[in-house]
Formats: sequence, C-alpha cells, structure tokens
Amino acid sequence: MTESTSPKRRHAVVLAAGKSTRFKSEKPKLLHKLCGKPMVCHLLDRLVALDVGRIIVVLGHGSDAVREALSAYPVDFALQEEQMGTGHATMCAVPALKNLQGSALVLYGDTPLISQDTLRRLFETCEKEGADEVVLTVETPEPQGYGRIVRDGEGMPARIVEEKDTSPEEKMIREINAGMVCFRIPTLLEHLPLLSNQNAAGEYYLTDILALLRERGKKVVAVPAVSVLETVGINSREELSRVEALLRAEIASGWMREGVTILNPATVYIDPDVTIGRDTVIYPGVFIEGKSRIGPRCAIYSGCHLVNAVLEENVIVDHCSVIRNSAVGQGTTVGPFAHLREHSSVGQDARIGNFVEVKKSLIGDGSKAAHLAYLGDATLGKDVNIGAGAITCNYDGVKKNPTIIEDGVFIGSDSQLVAPVTIHRGAYVAAGSTITEDVPPDSLAIARGRQVNKEGWVAEKGKR
Ligand code: UD1
Ligand code: CA
Repeated sequence: MTESTSPKRRHAVVLAAGKSTRFKSEKPKLLHKLCGKPMVCHLLDRLVALDVGRIIVVLGHGSDAVREALSAYPVDFALQEEQMGTGHATMCAVPALKNLQGSALVLYGDTPLISQDTLRRLFETCEKEGADEVVLTVETPEPQGYGRIVRDGEGMPARIVEEKDTSPEEKMIREINAGMVCFRIPTLLEHLPLLSNQNAAGEYYLTDILALLRERGKKVVAVPAVSVLETVGINSREELSRVEALLRAEIASGWMREGVTILNPATVYIDPDVTIGRDTVIYPGVFIEGKSRIGPRCAIYSGCHLVNAVLEENVIVDHCSVIRNSAVGQGTTVGPFAHLREHSSVGQDARIGNFVEVKKSLIGDGSKAAHLAYLGDATLGKDVNIGAGAITCNYDGVKKNPTIIEDGVFIGSDSQLVAPVTIHRGAYVAAGSTITEDVPPDSLAIARGRQVNKEGWVAEKGKR
C-alpha cells in the first residue's frame, strides 16, 4: 500500500495553511489552544475517533510548527506553499487523494466544535443519496463573515456567495456555509481544476465548486447542522475567547449531568479529555487539565491546578494544591498548598500536607508527610512518617540520586537525607539529623551536634 491508498472509503482533508491575519500572531492560529488543546486537534481527535481512512492535513503558514504539533496523529501532510484560498489549498491535497476510493470530507481547521455525529451524517448522506457534494449549513442571526447559501426556485442550494462578494440582498441571507463539506472523490478531483480566482479576494474559493456542480447537473445536498455552536469558526482572539467560554460551559454541564457537583461552573476549567467520577465535588476556581482522571467521591477545593492527574476514589485535594502528571490513591488527602509533580505516585490513605513538594517519588499506602517537606527521587514504603521540615537532598550538583525509605520508618523533623541513601524498615531518624549513610532496620540514627548548656553564660557575658 502506497502512502495515498487506503482500503477504507471515508477520508478527510483538513485545511490548515491559512495565514490567520486577524489573529495577529507569530504562532499559527490553529495551534492556539482552545480549552487546553490546539484548535486543530479538536477536529483531528474526532476524525480519528470516526476511524476514517486517510486524513490529509494541508500545511502552509507555520508548517514546521504545525507538523511538529501533530506528529502523534496518524495524518499525511500536503503543502500549500502560497496561500491562494481554500480551493487552492484543497488542490494541494490532490496528489494524496488521487488513489482513494469513496468520499472525502473537506474541513477547515478553524471550526473545531463540529460534532462527530454531524461528520458521520455528512458521510452517510453522501453515500446514501449518491451525492456529489454534501454541504453543512445553519441559520444564524449573525451571518457576517460567512459564505451565504443561495437557494434556487426549487429550494435547492445553487451557489455560495462569500461575504466580500455579496450583494445587499444576499447579505440578508441567514443560512450560512458552515465550512464542512463532503465530496465524492472523483467529482472533487474533476472539478477542482475548474475553479477561478475572479472574485473580490482574488482567491480560489472551494465554495465555488457548488455552483459548478449544479451547472453540470451534479447532485448537491444541503444538510442542516444540529446547532450554530458546532459550526462557529474562530477567526480572531475575541472569537477564540467566546468559543472557549461556550465550550467550557458545555463541558461543565456535561459533568454535572453525569453526577458531579460543580459549585460555580463559570470559574472552573475542565479540559475536554478529562473524566470525573460521580459525587465528586469541585469548588470554585479549579483547573483540571490534560488527560486527568478524577475518581468518584473526591473533593477538589479552590485554587487547585491538576494536569494529567489521576485520582482514585475519595481523594481530597485541599486548597491551592498543584498535581502534575501524578497519581493519588484512594482515601488520600493532598494539601492545602501541596505540589506533586513529575510522575509521582501516592498510595492509599496517605497524607501529603501543607507546603510539601513531591517530585518523581513513590509514596506507599498510609504514609504521611504532613508539613513542610521535600521528597525528590524517593521511594517510600508503607506507613512511613516524614516529620515537619524533613527533606531529601537528592541533587549533588551534577545528578539526581535516589532515597529509599522502607516500611514503618520514622523520619524526625528537620532531617536531611543526603542521597543516595537507604533507611531500612522500622528505623528511626532523630530530629535534626543529617543522614549521609544507610540506616539499618529497627535502629535509631542520630546525626547532629550534641547540645551543650552553658549555665550562667548570660551573666558572665554581662549581657544583663
Ligand atoms: C470560509 C468559507 C466560508 C465559510 C467559513 C466557515 C471559503 C472561501 N469560505 O471562510 O464560506 O462560511 O469558512 O467558517 O472557503 N486556508 C488554507 N489555505 C488558504 C486559505 C485558507 O489552508 O489559502 C485554511 C485556513 O487555515 C482555515 C480555513 O482554510 O483553517 C478557512 O479559511 P478562512 O480564511 O478562515 O475562511 P473564512 O473566511 O472563514
Ligand atoms: Ca475561518
């Protein structure tokens, strides 16, 4: 099988080459994040979930950055060297489309909210009706900026007029081209070369194909979108923030319908790929990002920031705690003001308290670091107690070294464990110790200066 063939009959082209002048950005528009994820990835995730054959992404402006950002996706890239319009961009995908069977969606990377059902419906309509083109349309009270659908005497779509080319009457049309179309591939390949750039923008519009097909007696079908929301295009940062707010509200509503309590959804930011269990309570001002998985009956208090966090059930994350790429076992309490990072894992019924930082460490079940501690590159067994102010000295200025603290160990307050070092099972470390050597099991290690009391010292020095 060569690059451009596929036994499947459903394919997609995503146009992502545009300059996005209205964004005024160094970075390609489609890499700007919407709810924590590059705009274009929303669309690609849905296409991947739909199991289409080939996905061809047309790159141009900022192509290196887009290519890199999409490196994990099963897509082929086509290059549009000069941005001469959506029709021209689609022409750039022709070499990749040439050997494919069936139908192809042509989508715009800046319309990220389109639902999977609607995409499926476009394919199905194309197949069932034997259509040459299926175009998604929607009636909106704010059609400005969109291509308008002009219908003929029979009520069939006859052509699409772009905003810049509309007459005053056409400006009044409220039915717009949502920018998602499905073509029978041979029809698309045959008609793309016929597009011209004789219009107000001097561009090759993909949208002109509709009129060409109608003139040649081809079958064009319009399908209505489920909602205006799924068709909104993002052309400016204002539109980005508006869509962001809408999508966030929808995500929060979705979780509330699933049995999650969100006290003030307007202040809570939940990314689209997060999952949350029932009866979990989320307080105002919480961010839950990336692919975080929150179990049932958890409580996440204000000011917390969770990125790719995995919480089992009944976990409490108290105020202003940060958890990144780390997991917390059931019944464990984290915070307030705790920081778990870099693939740390805390077991069940454990406690990571105020001002405790945990980095790349494993904390066993029932272990506690309740106040002011740093555990880096450490492995703690079960029921370990880390006293207030105790730290692992994991960095020797060149490399990171491991600390191993076995089951039932008690580390006294304000101790320093200079890694690499092992504190064996059941041992005690006296408060204020600087531990540089391994501690044998069930023993007490004291490593600090002895206390000397100089009686009468104050009077002798004439201090009083
Ligand atoms: C387009 C449609 C309009 C529709 C609207 C829906 C055309 C001519 N117009 O207008 O009918 O109502 O979308 O949101 O198609 N792109 C390229 N190469 C180019 C030009 C654009 O890859 O040379 C890409 C852009 O990166 C973008 C997409 O195509 O993702 C759409 O381009 P944009 O300029 O945003 O088109 P609109 O003016 O929004
Ligand atoms: Ca657009």
